[in-house]
Amino acid sequence: MLQIQHNISLKTYNTFGVEAKATSFVELFNEADLHELFSSDVLKQERFLILGGGSNMLFTKDFKGLVVKISMTGIGAKTAGDHVFVTAGAGEVWNDLVTYCVKNGFAGLENLTLIPGTVGASPVQNIGAYGVELKDVFSSCSAFELATGKTKIFNYEDCQFDYRESIFKGALKGKFIITSVTFKLSAEAKINTSYGAIESELERRKINQPTILDVSAAVAHIRVSKLPDPSTIGNAGSFFKNPIIGKDTFNLILANHPSIVAYPMPDERIKLAAGWLIEQCGFKGKIVGNTGSWKNQALVLVNHGGASGTEIYDYSQQIVDSVHTKFGVTLSREVNIL
Ligand code: FAD
Ligand code: EPU
Repeated sequence: MLQIQHNISLKTYNTFGVEAKATSFVELFNEADLHELFSSDVLKQERFLILGGGSNMLFTKDFKGLVVKISMTGIGAKTAGDHVFVTAGAGEVWNDLVTYCVKNGFAGLENLTLIPGTVGASPVQNIGAYGVELKDVFSSCSAFELATGKTKIFNYEDCQFDYRESIFKGALKGKFIITSVTFKLSAEAKINTSYGAIESELERRKINQPTILDVSAAVAHIRVSKLPDPSTIGNAGSFFKNPIIGKDTFNLILANHPSIVAYPMPDERIKLAAGWLIEQCGFKGKIVGNTGSWKNQALVLVNHGGASGTEIYDYSQQIVDSVHTKFGVTLSREVNIL
C-alpha cells in the first residue's frame, strides 16, 4: 500500500541541505508502487517532481505538489561474448553499481566512481567525469510514461545525449520515470586514462599497467581531494556547465587572456573550463553569508550551514554577472533550480 505523506521537509533529500517543504511525498520501491500511483489519479491532480538522490537540485522555495522519490533497487548481469550487459534499478545508488562492476571485473564505469546520486538519474544529464560519459556505456533504459502508464524502452539514439544533456532533460522533461538502466560493459578491461589527472595519479602510485580497480581508486582519490563531501558541506557538484563557444569568439578572448584553460571539441568548437573563468573573477574560496565557492574547485558552490536556496541562487547570479563582464561568456547552470 502506497504511503503518501504531507508537508514533508526536503532538507535531507537534497545534497545542498537546504530547507524546503513538499506538499506531499511518496517513495516508490518497485514497479507495482508505480502502477498503484498511476491508478490512484493523484498524478493528474498534482504537480509532481521526480527525485533521485537530490544531488543535482537546488530548492529555492517549497515544492507545491507531489515529490516522487525513486527507490527501485536490484542489479543483474548477462554476458554476451566480450560484453556484459548490466541492468540496475533506478533507485540503486550510482556508486554502489560502480563498485559492483569494478569488483566483478566489468569494465566501463570505473572513471565514473564516486559520482553521487542514483542510477535512474544518470541518463538524465548524461553524467560524466574523467574522460567518460554515461553515453559511452549506455545500452538502453526502461521508462514509465506518466501520461499513459505505458513502459517504453529508450535506446541510445532515442536519448539524444550531449554534454550534460539528454531528451529527459529537454523535450521529455518530467514526462517519464526511468525505472531501470542497462549498461554495455566489457569483460576485457579497456582502460581509459586519457584525463590528465588520472595519469598523474597513477604515476604517483607507480602503477604502469592499471586495472579497472586502480583507475577507480585513482579517480576516487582525485575527487576527494577536489570536491567537498555533501555529508559535511552541502553542495551539488559543478553548479555551472563548462561553456562551449565558437573558435572566433575563443580567439578574441584568448588575445586578452592567454592562460585561459580550454579544450578543443571534435566539431571545432571550444569548451572552456568554467572553474578557471570563475577563479579569475576572484570567487574561488570566497564566503558570502552562509554560501560561497569551494576552496579547491571554484565551479562548486557550497552551503556552509544554514544557507537558503535563494541565498545560493543569488550568489550564483553574482558569478554569472562577473564572468560575463570579464570574459563576455554567459555561464549556464548545470544544477536543476526549483
Ligand atoms: P536528482 O538530483 O534527484 O535529480 C536530477 C534530475 O534527474 C531531476 O531533473 C530529476 O527530476 C531527474 N530524475 C532523477 N531520477 C529520475 C528518474 N528515475 N527518472 C526520470 N528522471 C529522474 N555529475 C556529473 O555528471 N559528473 C560528476 O562528476 C558529478 N560530480 C558530483 C559531485 C558532487 C559532490 C555532487 C554533489 C554532485 C555531482 N554531480 C556530478 C551531479 C549529480 O551527482 C548527478 O547529476 C547525478 O546523476 C544526480 O543524481 P540524483 O539521483 O541525485 O538526481
Ligand atoms: N580550474 C581552475 N580553477 C578551479 C577549477 C578548475 O582553474 O577552481 C581549471 C583547471 O585548469 C583544471 C580545469 O579547470 O585543470 C578542469 O577542472 P576539473 O578537472 O576539476 O574539471 P571541471 O571541468 O571543473 C568537470 C565536470 C565535473 C567532473 C570533472 C572531471 C562539468 C560542469 N563538470 O569539471 O563534473 O567531475 O570535470 O571530469 O563538466 C559535476 O557535473 O557536478 C561535476 C563535478
